Amino acid sequence: MATIILLGGDVNLVLGDGTYEANCDASREYTNITQILQAAAPSTLQYMQTYWKDYQGNDESFWEHEWGKHGTCISTLEPSCYANYKATDDAVDYFNKAVSLFKTLPSYSWLAAAGIVPSSTKTYTLAAIQSALTSKFGFAVTINCNSKKELDELWYHYNVQGSVQSGTWQPAAPVGSGSTCPSTGIKYLPKPGGTTSTTVAGTPGTTVTTSAPVSTASGTALSGKGYLNVVSGGSQNGCIISAGTWYTTGTCATFTATPSGSGFTLSSSKGKCAISSNALTCASSVTTATVFAYDGTYLTYSGSSSFYTTAVPTGTKQSTVYTTSQAVSLQITWQAI
Ligand SMILES: *[C@@H]1O[C@H](CO)[C@@H](O)[C@H](O)[C@H]1NC(C)=O
Repeated sequence: MATIILLGGDVNLVLGDGTYEANCDASREYTNITQILQAAAPSTLQYMQTYWKDYQGNDESFWEHEWGKHGTCISTLEPSCYANYKATDDAVDYFNKAVSLFKTLPSYSWLAAAGIVPSSTKTYTLAAIQSALTSKFGFAVTINCNSKKELDELWYHYNVQGSVQSGTWQPAAPVGSGSTCPSTGIKYLPKPGGTTSTTVAGTPGTTVTTSAPVSTASGTALSGKGYLNVVSGGSQNGCIISAGTWYTTGTCATFTATPSGSGFTLSSSKGKCAISSNALTCASSVTTATVFAYDGTYLTYSGSSSFYTTAVPTGTKQSTVYTTSQAVSLQITWQAI
């Protein structure tokens, strides 16, 4: 079974048989994926460096994780399935297949052709999304949403005859538990939005993963003064205050955006802003301001517009804003003043 996940700006390709086995062979968990691909499949590497990015900026460890977790469980990538196995041939086949499959599934364009485009205000029906994708793929796709009714994953299913690397991949009807999106009111948000997955029946023990920017370009620089408003649970709720924390009552702090490199830095009355120990902090003790970007809708850090906190602040409470996953996800918009 193979699964391709397209998450907002990112695509993940997961090839598996639906059993979700993980980390099946520690002896093949390579720690040099970049070098392996540089030597054996440089064009695949180049594509991955553009489209299969780690949102925290560490592509090598992200690829190692995906290969180690999913690739080593693909039975036909086991050394015994090769006539003349050489170490790391399996990882090369895995990434080559993930990239070549991903190129055949332009979900973003398929949705856009049906008028389904990322929007922070519009919602879509499950039937409309399903129809747009089915008409191109040939079979129904599993369409998954998160708990906030935001389009989160698309799973494309295939039957595979032969090996992952050289077998025939035939689009197929979904197996498993069906779409998790509600029938109406689905949000397809501009940056972390839609996702795509591929499930391949017929190949025991298999899972692969790929990512790619499909929506708005990032790297737009903001400049001047503005407020950093917080969007959470589908609506605006408070803003970032001068220390870099989220506050839902009271006055928003004024931030200054200054273009820097491919993005911009931010500062408040407290000082420069940085991501420090995975948390947003603005303080006089910050010596090096972090470079942020703007995707046209949201503030982004390291290619992702997702920020997190442990709990939505109420009353006079402030919540720390993290770049690593926590219970509550949020996004940050810029309101120039
Ligand atoms: C990558 O590491 C493996 C051992 O884990 C080694 O056999 C292989 O030669 C290395 N490949 C490159 C291109 O460095």
